[in-house]
Amino acid sequence: MQAFTHYTPTEIVFGKASEDKVAELAKKYHGSRVFVVYGGGSVVKSGLLERVTGTLEAAGLKVETIGGVKPNPRLDFAREAVKKAIEFQADLILAVGGGSVIDTAKAVSHGAANPDTDIWEFWSRKKKVEKTLPVGVILTLAAAGSETSDSAVLTNTEIQVKRGLSTDLNRPEFAIMNPELTYSLPAYQTAAGGVDIFSHVAERYFTLEPDCGFTDRLCEATMKTVIGCLPEVLSHPQEYAGRAEIMWTGTIAHNGILGVGRSEDWGSHMLGHEITAFYGLTHGATLSIIIPNWMEYVYKTDVTRFVKYAVNVWNVENNMDHPEKTALEGIRRTRDFFRSVGMPVTLEEAGIDGDRIEEMAENCTKYGPVGGFVTLRKEDCMAIYEKSK
Ligand code: NZQ
Ligand code: ZN
Repeated sequence: MQAFTHYTPTEIVFGKASEDKVAELAKKYHGSRVFVVYGGGSVVKSGLLERVTGTLEAAGLKVETIGGVKPNPRLDFAREAVKKAIEFQADLILAVGGGSVIDTAKAVSHGAANPDTDIWEFWSRKKKVEKTLPVGVILTLAAAGSETSDSAVLTNTEIQVKRGLSTDLNRPEFAIMNPELTYSLPAYQTAAGGVDIFSHVAERYFTLEPDCGFTDRLCEATMKTVIGCLPEVLSHPQEYAGRAEIMWTGTIAHNGILGVGRSEDWGSHMLGHEITAFYGLTHGATLSIIIPNWMEYVYKTDVTRFVKYAVNVWNVENNMDHPEKTALEGIRRTRDFFRSVGMPVTLEEAGIDGDRIEEMAENCTKYGPVGGFVTLRKEDCMAIYEKSK
């Protein structure tokens, strides 16, 4: 196990009616002027936004709102939101929504705390975030893990780049997590979220570090929970137990705990981000296509680890004479699972013809090779996209 620092400071308030605590939490984190960010309207339709702003105002807090964050959130919208937050003199940014809303709120918090800096300077690594405003979250979608993660992903449509920024200043102060708020999710978003959660673990499970058995087991338990609960949730979307398991799994998958003491990969996410940047495909759908193809492309690098994955996560019987067969069976089951929850497993199934593979591979490796488990250069990325057709 490698040396590590684990820092996950977000206060999590989980359970039914937890959103009622929003004013108390906002005050605890020094909020008096709360700038609320939300998406395309699901929280208006459900009445959540009105309840939240009402609770804040009733507690004497000043509130301003901005709606309209689109999935795969855009830089230009975040810039507008920054201006509005500065005008309002916001001292706390509250995200009410899924990963796209939370990531926008994180961008707004950095922009409002640094009014002389264009926020893309942070995402393009020209400047480091040194100060920010506190962020609170009311989560409505179990997927990205942004409610506690150190990352925020924005798309710059001018240059067709989707990029993540990782910094501990991206960690929200508090996250309110009521599984009931996810009952209204369409099946596709629920499944895409499940695939994203699974992928956050896979990106960490496939590591070069051999001595991390405890964390491996935590990863395996997390993946098995998604495999067990996601079909349940899809059949019974209004049942608390399954929604709660998936919501908590989503946080654990991406708060950093499953990556301690080991190298991580993230090549599949990078490949997936290009598909979204070029074709606008939902994040989870890019991963249901890429992850099994990435696995088939790289498994020979460490067949033993893929055998462990097949046996411990998918209960594949270990073929001692032919370990490669065991490994490939685990990958086959991964793809079948993604397909069984209604997600695409080829570019074609997602309505993408794949004629921009070279451009995607070029962009993916623009800042150098990607992937920590296996290093992918442009030709590797092209080969994985080709396989994914
Ligand atoms: O915009 P509204 O109307 O709210 O609808 C949203 C949106 O259309 C809808 N939705 C959310 N909660 C709902 C609901 N519909 C009905 N009922 C509810 N309770 O779901 C749609 C998708 O929302 P979005 O926030 O885009 O989804 P998700 O949470 O999957 O976030 C995806 C974004 O997060 C990034 C992705 O790249 C993508 O941009 N990621 C962020 C990460 C991070 N910050 O740590 C890590 C991830 O790997 C990921 O890259
Ligand atoms: Zn993801």
